[in-house]
Amino acid sequence: MRVLVTGAGGRLGQATVPRLVDAGFEVRATSRRARTGSGVQWVVADLASGAGGFPASSGGSCGPVGW
Ligand SMILES: NC(=O)c1ccc[n+]([C@@H]2O[C@H](COP(=O)([O-])OP(=O)(O)OC[C@H]3O[C@@H](n4cnc5c(N)ncnc54)[C@H](OP(=O)(O)O)[C@@H]3O)[C@@H](O)[C@H]2O)c1
Repeated sequence: MRVLVTGAGGRLGQATVPRLVDAGFEVRATSRRARTGSGVQWVVADLASGAGGFPASSGGSCGPVGW
């Protein structure tokens, strides 16, 4: 199963992502800056501005972030 984790580099995200990976989830993680590691696919996205393809609103397509 696939899961998208926003704020994956933050305190909660760093605690959550490894657990999701260990549980077998395919994780896509967002950050406002380029990141690597943690066994996940990182995507640069700013949820406030929409930069990186993520829309500022909750509606519509997630563009390159969603899959
Ligand atoms: N920690 C707790 O115990 C706790 C308890 C209750 C509620 N919460 C809430 O849960 C949320 C996360 O908490 P946290 O402790 O993990 O916070 P955190 O360590 O400050 O991490 C926040 C994350 O949000 C991302 N972020 C901030 N602005 C963003 C934007 N415009 N677009 C995309 N990503 C953005 C940052 O990612 P980048 O810097 O990588 O872009 C960062 O990784 C917060 O809303 C907090 O109030 C936390």
